[in-house]
Amino acid sequence: MFSAGTETSSTTIDWTMAELMRNPRVMAKVQAEVREAFKGKTTVEESDVQALKYLKLVIKETFRLHPPIALLPRACRDECTVNGYTNPLKSKVLINIWGMGRDPEYWQQPETFQPERFENSSIDFLGNNLEYIPFGAGKRICPGMNFGVANVELPLAQLLYHFDWKMAEGMSPDDIDMTEVEGLVFSRKNDLFLVPTVYNYNPSN
Ligand code: HEM
Repeated sequence: MFSAGTETSSTTIDWTMAELMRNPRVMAKVQAEVREAFKGKTTVEESDVQALKYLKLVIKETFRLHPPIALLPRACRDECTVNGYTNPLKSKVLINIWGMGRDPEYWQQPETFQPERFENSSIDFLGNNLEYIPFGAGKRICPGMNFGVANVELPLAQLLYHFDWKMAEGMSPDDIDMTEVEGLVFSRKNDLFLVPTVYNYNPSN
């Protein structure tokens, strides 16, 4: 519970911030949504987050490109043949969630970060759309899904509401290294260093 439920959420926040820094258009749009929704509030509550439609799309897009659990183990219940290869009964297979999220057969411009692709789309992460399964699928689907999503939405809403974000002196968003490292989860190889500036809500704006 603790290992499955902590690093998955924190690494998703890390990836989202990295993608937002690399995509200033998306950063501006999501930050405008959060600041409009919470105008004048001193704290962001969990119940407030439901109104943040674009933030939800941003998180969905992060899960597509950076699923924290990238390779899902399963065992074959029956012998089956895939692409001419026979998998014997009980053989262990790894389902490549990361690769499926970037498959050009299913996604237009798969390498670009475009949250709008999920707008007016019925694709969700409940395990119904097998090209997009960041929480797995079937009877072993992640039981902590709702908790996990809330654990990403609320901290991100707070980070985006209370702070403006800049790269460290002398660095540009192009310098952000997006290399992954495989551990318990697929996280960023190098830490993300950003400079926050407190955003002061001005009621006359
Ligand atoms: C961003 C958040 C999270 C992601 C992306 C995620 C993803 C996943 C994935 C892909 C699986 C494998 C599902 C399968 O085999 O079909 C899984 C299993 C699991 N997750 Fe999560 N998870 C997240 C958060 C959480 C949280 C918050 C908890 C609990 C507090 C949790 C508890 C578990 C447990 C106990 C399993 C094993 C279920 C089983 O094997 O029957 N997860 N998760």
